Amino acid sequence: MPAGPGLALALLLSRFCCSALAGPIVDPHVTAVWGKNVTLKCIIDINETITQISWEKIHGKSAQTVVVHHPEYGFSVQREYHGRVSFKNSSLIDATISLNNVSFSDAGEYVCKAVTFPLGNAQSSTTVTVFVLLLLQFEGICQDTVMPVTAGSTLPHGVKCTLLSSWQGEF
Ligand SMILES: *[C@@H]1O[C@H](CO)[C@@H](O)[C@H](O)[C@H]1NC(C)=O
Ligand SMILES: *[C@@H]1O[C@H](CO)[C@@H](O)[C@H](O)[C@H]1NC(C)=O
Ligand SMILES: *[C@@H]1O[C@H](CO)[C@@H](O)[C@H](O)[C@H]1NC(C)=O
Ligand SMILES: *[C@@H]1O[C@H](CO)[C@@H](O)[C@H](O)[C@H]1NC(C)=O
Repeated sequence: MPAGPGLALALLLSRFCCSALAGPIVDPHVTAVWGKNVTLKCIIDINETITQISWEKIHGKSAQTVVVHHPEYGFSVQREYHGRVSFKNSSLIDATISLNNVSFSDAGEYVCKAVTFPLGNAQSSTTVTVFVLLLLQFEGICQDTVMPVTAGSTLPHGVKCTLLSSWQGEF
């Protein structure tokens, strides 16, 4: 049987598809606490020339760049993330970032991507879930008296409390 286009394609795929490009090492699921910092790990253990590393956030079918590290052009943090995201390491094989002061809109899927030469992109994704730490002490006004209110605390029947902390819009 002559070597037709099918065989050529199969050879091409075996050469470029799955040979060296395992995705970067990430934590598939990360839990973050509202208002705290979270670390998104990404180690690029690839025997290739790395030409750029980045994190993107998935919004439906599109991806929004969060931060990029390019060996020549340096670091670039997208406007929405200014002051909140930084690479923990200046190495191109460690794309671990810290995302600070987490809010609910930070929940979702993130992709750590390495652009390599000559095999192209390698990427892995991390899903971030945002929780609220419930063991916070709130200060509340209970029947005109300021007193501490712990989440889950029991109050005398009929006493109404208003939380003084400004969490409106978040719950
Ligand atoms: C979060 O990161 C910011 C900026 O690096 C730092 O100032 C702050 O102390 C960190 N907070 C915690 C809880 O680690
Ligand atoms: C990387 O690739 C080079 C050339 O193919 C090879 O000599 C080397 O052993 C590889 N290193 C690792 C860590 O796989
Ligand atoms: C940065 O990477 C270097 C080399 O891989 C490692 O020795 C160092 O501990 C890393 N630093 C941080 C903050 O992860
Ligand atoms: C954290 O983000 C909230 C909005 O989600 C903002 O109001 C607050 O000032 C930020 N805190 C810090 C320390 O940046």
